[in-house]
Amino acid sequence: MKNKELLKDLKEYDRFGKDKEISKEISKEIGVSESVFTYGSTPYETALALIKSVNKKPSRFVVVGTSIGWMNFYWNEIYPNIPSLGIDIHYGRIEFGNSLIKKHKLSNIELKVDDLYKFSFKDTDLIWLSNCCFDTNENAKIVNDIIAKNPNVSIISYKPFDSSVRSKVTRHSLAVSWMPLQPFWVYDTK
Ligand SMILES: C[S@@+](CC[C@H](N)C(=O)[O-])C[C@H]1O[C@@H](n2cnc3c(N)ncnc32)[C@H](O)[C@@H]1O
Repeated sequence: MKNKELLKDLKEYDRFGKDKEISKEISKEIGVSESVFTYGSTPYETALALIKSVNKKPSRFVVVGTSIGWMNFYWNEIYPNIPSLGIDIHYGRIEFGNSLIKKHKLSNIELKVDDLYKFSFKDTDLIWLSNCCFDTNENAKIVNDIIAKNPNVSIISYKPFDSSVRSKVTRHSLAVSWMPLQPFWVYDTK
């Protein structure tokens, strides 16, 4: 990432204090496992390689489970003219991400508290699914639903796709904070 000050600020997020309390609180409130709030980060080089592998020219980049907005900040630096939107149910992470948008005076980037199950995707979106901690069956349902409603979307995912769409999917192995080679799958419709 070129903006070293922003990268430093992202790395300084305190994921052991209030973050854990908020995860507990939300998991109780909506009845989900605390494991969906596991904190991890995907390095810039990995995100760049995946984003560049996509042929589709999207009208919007949407990150589901954006956390503090890592992917949105990367995208904003690479494609400042294409809007970048991140959603997450963890309001503490969104609040932190928003403080960095303000501090670094960034535009065309939005982070908001929203639930994947209530969100309306668009056919013209490129979606980054931060789904590594989602239940596999639940994830398959979510992805199939997104594709059924938006047949022309492109999706970058930490979990594999259904075999019925295999011809549109490529597999990648790239570094993340929690393992040296994480498999990724890219569903691309162009
Ligand atoms: C493991 S983290 C993402 C980390 C990401 N893999 C990375 O490399 O930056 C997954 C995020 O999904 C969020 N999340 C869980 N359920 C969600 C839902 N229903 N809608 C939106 N975000 C959700 C969690 O709050 C969490 O911040």
